[in-house]
Amino acid sequence: MDQPNLVRQIFATTGSTYDLMVKVATLGQDSSWKKRILEISSQITPKTILDLACGTGILTFALAQRFPESAVVGIDLQEEYLLYARAKKIKSAVKNVEFFQANAEDVVENRYDLITASYLPKYINMNVVIRNCSKILNPEGLIVFHDFTYPENAFYRLTYNIYWVLLRSVLHMSQSWREMGRELKHIIVESTWVTTMKSALEVHGFTEIQVEIQPWEVSAIVYATRRGTVH
Ligand SMILES: C[S@@+](CC[C@H](N)C(=O)[O-])C[C@H]1O[C@@H](n2cnc3c(N)ncnc32)[C@H](O)[C@@H]1O
Repeated sequence: MDQPNLVRQIFATTGSTYDLMVKVATLGQDSSWKKRILEISSQITPKTILDLACGTGILTFALAQRFPESAVVGIDLQEEYLLYARAKKIKSAVKNVEFFQANAEDVVENRYDLITASYLPKYINMNVVIRNCSKILNPEGLIVFHDFTYPENAFYRLTYNIYWVLLRSVLHMSQSWREMGRELKHIIVESTWVTTMKSALEVHGFTEIQVEIQPWEVSAIVYATRRGTVH
């Protein structure tokens, strides 16, 4: 199965419970990681922001609130998630945000000062996405990607494996999340997104590349600045 179809399969019918599940499954860490993404993003004052794989818009709305003068665009493969994101917009006072259906690997239009992605890197061809980002990011623009990592430290890894046994049995109880429970850990264990992203950033004209491993080594944030003229 190709990657977009695998993604559609594991996320199918999870939209209504996603926001709760991400809090529970990360034991509340998701909001700390997103807070850190916002802090890093505040190094600049972006006028235009692209949030790749926005899902139900958790990070997209947080960016729009942090930068109220900016125009924020969220894109995602899953139309179902975008329906929830658009419904949130109708109910909220946040108006500087728009949501579109698109594959992150195909985004090569418009110009942005900030490009973010949370929980996308493990699913993509990193070289393609970073090359595209280098074309659409303005000079001095910032890219901030975040995703899960498999801990290297032996104690953290043991704890993580035990946690996954418990999490899988919780996910198994829900028809919608069962497929995620079956697939996600393998995807995380096999992913080399941090090293692949660092290399791709070097190749495609980014500088000040930073890698921040988060507590317990269960996720990382990688960010960098686009220097020079846009190709
Ligand atoms: C775990 S959700 C994360 C949503 C949001 N970024 C957040 O932090 O809550 C992962 C999202 O990645 C999206 N996704 C995966 N591969 C994608 C791709 N190639 N292009 C666009 N979206 C993609 C899925 O549809 C899903 O909504």
